[in-house]
Amino acid sequence: MFTVLRWETRFASGIASLDFRHQVLFALINEVNCAALTGDRSLSPREMLADFARHARLQFAEEEQLMLASGYSELESHRMEHGVLCEAIALLAGAESEVDVVDVCAFAHDWLVRHIVSTDLPMVAYLRGDTAA
Ligand SMILES: [Fe+2]
Repeated sequence: MFTVLRWETRFASGIASLDFRHQVLFALINEVNCAALTGDRSLSPREMLADFARHARLQFAEEEQLMLASGYSELESHRMEHGVLCEAIALLAGAESEVDVVDVCAFAHDWLVRHIVSTDLPMVAYLRGDTAA
């Protein structure tokens, strides 16, 4: 069972571009999941997952630039977390995969919420000068 992924104030970083891209990722997960649940085949699951992955990579590139520019010590571990999602989506969306789109959405949903709260928000706190890392 998949619950709709809703934006919550606890996910907000205060960096407008970051929050906007996160909200786009939420919307894309919901869109893919909705299409899977309703049987909408106007776009293939692989195409939708590829679109999600493209937006995720844009988001990750922006974060990694911010971390690099600020000398954030957690850059590499943060980058590795991004890699886990990108690799998982690429694998699941691959030509050989018998992809269960609902499972992929559930995975992306859990990953995104956990990553924002546990990894992105501490990064933003550092960028703001609230913490040392
Ligand atoms: Fe991140």
